[in-house]
Amino acid sequence: MTEPPAPPDLPALHAAVTTWYRDNARDLPWRRPGTSPWAVLVSEVMLQQTPVARVLPVWQEWVRRWPTPAAQAAARPAEVLRVWDRLGYPRRALRLLECATAIVARHGGQVPAAEEELRALPGVGAYTAAAVAAFAHGRRTAVLDTNVRRVLARAVAGQALPPPHLGRAEQARATACLPASAGAAVTWNVGLMELGALVCLARTPRCATCPLRARCAWLAAGRPADAHADRRRPQPFAGTDRQARGRILAHLRERPDGTWTPAADLLRAAAGAGDGDGGPADLVDPTRPARALAGLLADGLVAVGPGPAGDAYRLP
Ligand code: ADE
Repeated sequence: MTEPPAPPDLPALHAAVTTWYRDNARDLPWRRPGTSPWAVLVSEVMLQQTPVARVLPVWQEWVRRWPTPAAQAAARPAEVLRVWDRLGYPRRALRLLECATAIVARHGGQVPAAEEELRALPGVGAYTAAAVAAFAHGRRTAVLDTNVRRVLARAVAGQALPPPHLGRAEQARATACLPASAGAAVTWNVGLMELGALVCLARTPRCATCPLRARCAWLAAGRPADAHADRRRPQPFAGTDRQARGRILAHLRERPDGTWTPAADLLRAAAGAGDGDGGPADLVDPTRPARALAGLLADGLVAVGPGPAGDAYRLP
């Protein structure tokens, strides 16, 4: 049996992370003082499944067009989906619209600060609620994205990676690690996040330059292997329904506002015809294009109407 890790020296961890963050943080616009709670909420929704570099230009355009929940609530779904562009998981765009409408209806157009009220908003889960409470409103709460979870798993628990799903024990450990003051807790959260993004990488951690190398339980234990490896599922993209859905939406975004597109054009787009990357999977599953289109319709991401030769489609 391996020894459980020694209890962490929290003040030393807090100091190391805070100093490193002050000297190494990227200057990301949503972190700048004066960023509105709405702009922070938008950034957190976009960043959850999309890398910073892709989010940056879309976030800038988004908050320029819709600087408040009220402005967002007045937008049309088709416009929102066009500006969302290729960030992926486009249901997030429609949920932001619903979220803005709910903030106007329930909170007078102000993004709430209480995690419970945030969590009750459409499209806002536990992670986003904690991130907005902390980064937009300065609340003391553990913000557990994949980067933070990995750093804490290594430094404090001595594990290569956290379990596939966040559980109560992990949540409680993260809360127990928070600095006492709200301001210090906010910096700790964003510092852990940045450390996970720049140094404590999932596959190739840069332990030699890590500010926690003298205190990391995982490094001290000789970097043991991932104990949960057999329970992880990779998320394939090429040759999937998600890729086919992305191709259909990309096709519709290119069409002039309000014009209807025949189903045949979309099914061809879904199969990757003409874009040179239709992989063999497109050929082995001929039901994928129709299934992708039906899924988009069910999710409210496309609208259907009567065309001259059967049903036709456009952005909602
Ligand atoms: N800063 C604050 N929240 C962030 C996030 N989710 N990703 C990257 N940087 C951030």
